[in-house]
Amino acid sequence: MTAGRTPGRTASLPLVFITGASSGIGQALAVRFHQAGYRLALVARRTAEVEAWAQAKELPASMVSVYGADVRDVASITAAGRACIESQGLPDVVIASAGISVGIDTAVFADLEVMRSVFDTNNLGMAATFQPFVAAMAARGSGRLVGIASVAGIRGLPGHGAYCSSKAGVISYCESLRGELRPSGVKVVTVVPGYIATPLTSGNTYSMPFLMPVERFADKAFEAIEAGASYRVIPWQMGVVAKLLRLLPNAVYDRALAGRGRKQRQTSDP
Ligand SMILES: NC(=O)c1ccc[n+]([C@@H]2O[C@H](COP(=O)([O-])OP(=O)(O)OC[C@H]3O[C@@H](n4cnc5c(N)ncnc54)[C@H](OP(=O)(O)O)[C@@H]3O)[C@@H](O)[C@H]2O)c1
Repeated sequence: MTAGRTPGRTASLPLVFITGASSGIGQALAVRFHQAGYRLALVARRTAEVEAWAQAKELPASMVSVYGADVRDVASITAAGRACIESQGLPDVVIASAGISVGIDTAVFADLEVMRSVFDTNNLGMAATFQPFVAAMAARGSGRLVGIASVAGIRGLPGHGAYCSSKAGVISYCESLRGELRPSGVKVVTVVPGYIATPLTSGNTYSMPFLMPVERFADKAFEAIEAGASYRVIPWQMGVVAKLLRLLPNAVYDRALAGRGRKQRQTSDP
C-alpha cells in the first residue's frame, strides 16, 4: 500500500475513494474526478498499474494515493478504507466500481465457485468498500456512496445468472442503504451502466446496443454523482430499454433472448 502524504494546501480539496481504479470505468472516473479538482484514493489489486498510470498522467503525489486491496477479502478492503481516512482524510465520495462478469452453467460443479467469486466481488466487496466510511460520513452529515450496478441486473440473461443476480443484488442493496442513510444527509447513488467499452466487454461476442466510450460514460456518471442522483442509467437509451424490459411479459422476453450469445465461462465442461 502506498499512502501518499497530503500537505496542508491540498488537504482542503475534495477527496474521492475509487475501487476498480486499475481499469475501465474506475480508471475513467479517476480521470474525471481529477479534472474536477478532487484528490484521489485509488484501490486495486494491480497497484503497479495504477501507480504507472498516475505517473504517466503526471499526477502530483499530494493528489493521489494508491491502496492495494482485494475486495473479496473484507480485512483487506476495510484496511484500505481505514488507511485512506488516516492518511488522506474522510472522502467526500466513495465509488465501488470493482467488479467481475463471468458466465456460468449451473450444471457444472466448478461454476459454483465462480458464482461465489462473483458474489464476493460484486456484492460483499461493495458493502466492505463502504463499511469504513458509513458511520463517519453519517456523523459528518455529508458524503456520497456510489454503487456501480448494471442493466444486466434488471432481468436475467441466459448463461449470465451469477452476474445478473449479483447486479440485481447491487441495485437492491444500494436502495436499502439509501433509505438507511437518508436522515443522515449521506447520499447513495446507484449508477447503472449499459454497455461501456472497457476490458470487461471487449471479449463479448454478442451485440452490445448503444455501446458507449468509457470517457463519455465517466462524464455522465460524474454529473449524476455530483447531483446526488439516487439512480441513473447510462447511456439514457439503455434507461428506456431497462424500463421496457421490466414491462415485457416472460413469454415474449424468453423468446427474444432465445438465440442470444452467452457470456464466456472460466471453467471447462466436465
Ligand atoms: N463495462 C461495462 O459495459 C459495464 C456494464 C455494466 C456494469 N459494469 C460494472 O462496472 C464495474 C467496472 O467494470 P469495468 O468495465 O471497468 O471492468 P474492468 O475494466 O474489467 O475493471 C474491473 C476492475 O475491477 C477490479 N477488481 C476486480 N476484481 C477485484 C478484486 N477482487 N479486488 C479488487 N479489485 C478488483 C480490477 O482491478 P484489479 O484486477 O487490478 O484488482 C479492475 O480495476 C464493474 O462492477 C462492472 O460490473 C460494467
